[in-house]
Amino acid sequence: MTILLVEDDESIAIVVDAALAAEGFKVTRCDCLAQRDTALTNGTYSVLVTDVMLPDGDGIVGLPGIRERFPTMPIIVLSAQNTLDTAVRASDTGAYEYFPKPFDIDELANAVRQAAGSAAATENQADEAPPQGLPLVGRSAPMQAVYRMITRVLRNDLTVLVLGESGTGKELVAEAIHQLGHRRDGPFVAVNTAAIPADLIESELFGHERGAFTGAVARNIGKFEQANGGTLFLDEIGDMPMEAQTRLLRALQSGSIRRVGGRDEIKVDVRIIAATNRDLEPMIAAGQFREDLFYRLNVVPIAMPPLRDRADDIAALARHFLQLATTEGLPRHHLSGDAADLLSRQPWRGNVRELKNFIYRAALLAREDTIDAASLATLLVQNNRESSEAATAQLSLDGAVIGWLAEAAPAVGSVYGSALAAFEIPLFTQVLRDTGGNQLRAAQILGINRNTLRKRLNDLGLNPELFVIR
Ligand SMILES: Nc1ncnc2c1ncn2[C@@H]1O[C@H](COP(=O)(O)OP(=O)(O)OP(=O)(O)O)[C@@H](O)[C@H]1O
Ligand SMILES: [Mg+2]
Repeated sequence: MTILLVEDDESIAIVVDAALAAEGFKVTRCDCLAQRDTALTNGTYSVLVTDVMLPDGDGIVGLPGIRERFPTMPIIVLSAQNTLDTAVRASDTGAYEYFPKPFDIDELANAVRQAAGSAAATENQADEAPPQGLPLVGRSAPMQAVYRMITRVLRNDLTVLVLGESGTGKELVAEAIHQLGHRRDGPFVAVNTAAIPADLIESELFGHERGAFTGAVARNIGKFEQANGGTLFLDEIGDMPMEAQTRLLRALQSGSIRRVGGRDEIKVDVRIIAATNRDLEPMIAAGQFREDLFYRLNVVPIAMPPLRDRADDIAALARHFLQLATTEGLPRHHLSGDAADLLSRQPWRGNVRELKNFIYRAALLAREDTIDAASLATLLVQNNRESSEAATAQLSLDGAVIGWLAEAAPAVGSVYGSALAAFEIPLFTQVLRDTGGNQLRAAQILGINRNTLRKRLNDLGLNPELFVIR
C-alpha cells in the first residue's frame, strides 16, 4: 500500500515517512502541488497525506477535484496554521482527518492505518519487508534536531563531523546522509582509521603504485579514489596518527591525492563525513589532534545524543530491534508496556548498540510471544539453568548472564544488585498480582518491611499501581 505524502518541510516529511514505513506502508514523497499532481496521474495511492502551505500554492484548494477523481482515497490534512479556519476548510473538502502541527506522529500513523482500511493494512503488514524508510528510529526532541541537521546537508557537499559516544548511531547517520542525499547514486566508502596500522594508513587512504614499498606487489586503489563521485566516511578520526592527519589535511585542502610511490596528483570528488567518539578539543590542546584538520572537518557538526538523554525513544527502538530480529530468523515478539518502561530506565552506557544486542538476546531467549518486565528478568534465570544443563548451549553463562547483569548493574548499583533484581522482579510481580497491588499485604507475604518493599519497587521501576484491580 502506497501513501502519497505532500510536505515541503523536509524534516517533517522524513519523520512521517519513517513512521509510515515502520507501519509497513510504502511512501511516495512530494514537496509541492505540481509534484503531487504528477504523482496522482502516474500512480495509485491508498491515502493522500498533505500539508496546506506549499511552495506553489494552497494544498486544500485542489482537494475537491482530487476527491472527485479518486472518491475512495481518504485524504489527511496536516497544517501548521492551526487556525479554526484551516480545520474547517479541510473538513469542507471531505478530508478524512485534520492534524494541526505539531502533531503526535503515532496518532497520525494510526489515522493513516485506519484510513487505509485496518484489515488490508494488517494483511499487508504480516509479510512486509523490513521498513524501507529512514533507518533512524526515534522521535525525541534531540533526534529531531539531528534530523534537521541531516536535511540541511543533503543537497550540498559540506563536510560533516558526527560526534557522540560509542553506539549512538554515528555511522548510521553517515549512511543516511549518503542514501538520502544527492550523491546517493555514487559509492559510500567507509574507512575506520583507528583499525589500520599507522604505516599502512597512507596506502589505505590514497592507494599505492606497484613496488612503492616492500610487499606492494600490485597497484592498489585507495579509499579516496574508490569513493570518487560519492561519500567517504572517515570513522574514528580522533584515533588517527599525527602523520596521517597531516596527509589527510593536505588531501582535503587540495581536493586531490597522490598514490604512495606515484607521481601524479589525482583529482578526487568526494564528500567527506568524519566521525569520532573522542572529545577533540582537549586532544587539540594536548597536541594530539591537528587544529587545522579539526576546522576542516568541523564544518557541519552533528552531535548524536546519548541514549540516556532520549529515554522516550527506547521503547520504539526496542520494538524496532524486535522487528529487525525477525529478519534474522528469530520469532516475532511483542514488548509489553512494563517491559518498555523497565528498558527505558536503564542507563545504556553502550547506547543504541547495547540496547540492540540486548533485545536480540531477549528475542532469542523469550519463551512467550510477549516479552514483559518479569520475563526480561527471568530470561536470565532460565538461561542460567539451560546453559548449565546443556554445555553445548550457544550462550554460555558468562557470555549472556554476566553480560546482562553487567548491563543492568548500573541501574541498581552493582552486578550483585542486578542479580538480585533478576530474582526480585518476577517475585514482586507475582506477589503484587496476587494482592492486587496492595503493598502492605505484599510486604507481609514477603516478610519484609513495607518501606523496604516500596523502595525496592521504586529502584526496580516496578509500578505497584499497575496491579491495582479497579
Ligand atoms: N536511531 C537508530 N535507529 C535504529 N538503529 C540505530 C539507531 N542508532 C544506532 N542504531 C544501531 O545501533 C548500532 C550502533 O550504531 P552505529 O554503529 O552507527 O554507532 P556509532 O556511533 O558509529 O558507534 P561507535 O562509536 O562505537 O562506532 C548499529 O547497529 C545501528 O544500526
Ligand atoms: Mg561507528
